[in-house]
Amino acid sequence: MPGLTIGDTVPNLELDSTHGKIRIHDFVGDGYVIIFSHPADFTPVCTTEMAAMASYASEFEKRGVKLLGISCDDVASHKEWIKDVEAFSSKQQSSPGGAKSSKVTFPIMADPERSAIKELNMVDPDEKDGKGVSLPSRTLHVVGPDKVVKLSFLYPACTGRNMDEVLRAVDSLLTAAKHKGKVATPANWKPGDRAVIGPSVSDEEAKKMFPDGFETADLPSNKGYLRFTKV
Ligand code: BEZ
Repeated sequence: MPGLTIGDTVPNLELDSTHGKIRIHDFVGDGYVIIFSHPADFTPVCTTEMAAMASYASEFEKRGVKLLGISCDDVASHKEWIKDVEAFSSKQQSSPGGAKSSKVTFPIMADPERSAIKELNMVDPDEKDGKGVSLPSRTLHVVGPDKVVKLSFLYPACTGRNMDEVLRAVDSLLTAAKHKGKVATPANWKPGDRAVIGPSVSDEEAKKMFPDGFETADLPSNKGYLRFTKV
């Protein structure tokens, strides 16, 4: 059975967290939320990832995007582990613009029964705990104000995520949403670069929508479908 993926509504689960009980739809509210899992507390890659998330949190906040972590350890374990994460984060220089915030200001949910990670499509069948029970993968869903999954990353335990890429992908989503899906961002796009105009937009419509105009790439097919514009 396919698991939760882009276009699906995130299940409205209620879970314990380091900030008390959280009901996912209430937490999303009318903004964007990044729900991300990690395999286990007190493990090396997870500690570096959580520290990186702590130092990027202010960048997400600037964009109105909230963070929500989850793993299978319990809340008491998360709270102890956060001490390590914050100590490690405070030693890092990896946050964008050199801004340093070592505090884990966002909640981490607990799923000791492993039921939520199944519903959120976050199970890594290859990673097991000491009792042979599956652990979460490094899944990350960006959920929109309509509670629908807009983007998902699915990484195995061996591969820590790149928070610059998470931020870049969020900037892309927000750019596309701001232009009501009429623009998209090309390969290796970063904020400030030109976006492309979507295929559903005619040249006439594009002229009205983008006062600075647009540039059509000259390609052998002559179909005029690759159009760049400032956003
Ligand atoms: C880690 O975070 O380093 C890790 C966690 C679970 C399995 C393998 C690696």
